[in-house]
Order: sequence, then C-alpha cells, then structure tokens
Amino acid sequence: MRVVSAIITAACALTIGVVAASADAERQQAPQNLQVLPKDMTMEQITQTMQSIRQALGVQCTHCHVGGPADRAKDDKPEKTMARNMMKMVQNLNDMLGGTAEAPMVTCFTCHRGALKPAIAPDGGGLLALALRN
Ligand code: HEC
Ligand code: HEC
Repeated sequence: MRVVSAIITAACALTIGVVAASADAERQQAPQNLQVLPKDMTMEQITQTMQSIRQALGVQCTHCHVGGPADRAKDDKPEKTMARNMMKMVQNLNDMLGGTAEAPMVTCFTCHRGALKPAIAPDGGGLLALALRN
C-alpha cells in the first residue's frame, strides 16, 4: 500500500514537473504568429494580455486555441479570427477616442464584462442602430 502511494506521489511530482517545464517553455519561446499584436511582444506580455482577454470574455484559453500550450500559434478556430477582428476594432475605437496603451478608453471588458455575448439595450437598441446607419 505504501509502495503504491509512493508511486502515485512520484507520478504526481513528475506530472507537476512536466507542467511547470512546459509553462516555462511557453514563456521563453518567441511568438510565431502575431498578426495584430506587436510582433516584438514577449511571451510574458502575451500571456498577461491573454489572461485579461480570457477574464473579459469569461472563457478558457481553449475557446480560441486548439490543443495545449505548444499549439497557440495555430489558427484552427474561427473564434481566434473573430478575436483578431475585435482587437482591430478596439484599436480603431481607441484611436477615435484618444485612448492609449497606458490609458485605454475601450478594452474587451468595456462591452463583454465577463460574458461572451455583450448585453444589448433592453429594447434591443434597434432604433438607434437603424438611425446611425443613415
Ligand atoms: C478570445 C480569444 C482568445 C482567448 C480566450 C485566448 N487567446 Fe491567445 N490568442 C488569441 C489571438 C487572436 C491571438 C493572435 C494575436 C495576433 O494575431 O496578433 C492569440 C495568440 C496567443 C499566443 C501567441 C501564439 C504565437 O506563437 O503566435 C499565445 C502564447 C496565446 N495566445 C496564449 C493564450 C493563453 C495562455 C490563453 C488563456 C489564458 C489564451 N491565449 C486565450 C485569442 C485568444
Ligand atoms: C464595442 C463592443 C465590443 C468590444 C469592445 C469587444 N467586443 Fe467582442 N463582441 C461584441 C459583440 C456585439 C459580439 C457578438 C456577440 C453575439 O454574437 O451575440 C462580440 C463577439 C465576440 C466573440 C465571438 C463570441 C463567440 O461566440 O465566440 C469574440 C471571440 C470576441 N467578441 C472577442 C473580443 C475580444 C478579444 C475583444 C477585445 C480585444 C472584444 N471582443 C471587444 C462586442 C465587442
């Protein structure tokens, strides 16, 4: 019994070691496929950015990414493409409003507030959307 639990403990330690090592590898490796974010961002800055996006939308990394840490550069999910478009939109809005990287006027959280689908006005907001179209 003691042998079994020793093996389980060793296996857990090994797993934790592997997870920690792959997290380190993710931080150290240079990003491969940035199309919107500045290409000179470090992995640490990217990880921080991704954490804040994850929280703003109330999702896991795998909402936009397939596989594990080694697969983040892949573009296999439409949600990742959608997120790139959203990033460009947020950039445009900040340009229009005078927001900067240090003091942004608009972020993902401005609309999403922890939810994947932002809340729409109680009456649907259709009249305003229609009026603005003309
Ligand atoms: C809402 C969608 C979304 C979520 C959630 C998300 N990401 Fe991303 N991630 C992206 C997009 C979009 C890019 C590419 C940005 C670009 O093209 O400039 C990206 C790029 C990355 C990259 C750079 C990959 C490379 O080599 O080019 C890493 C690393 C990454 N994400 C990690 C994470 C982690 C870790 C999480 C969870 C904490 C996460 N992402 C959550 C959308 C998302
Ligand atoms: C001006 C408001 C606004 C801002 C700011 C905004 N979004 Fe969105 N986002 C929306 C709306 C509206 C939808 C469509 C929701 C629906 O389908 O009902 C959406 C949808 C999405 C989706 C697809 C949802 C799904 O079902 O997978 C993703 C991913 C997303 N946004 C990511 C982002 C990210 C990342 C940011 C910040 C870079 C961001 N959004 C900023 C308004 C916004």
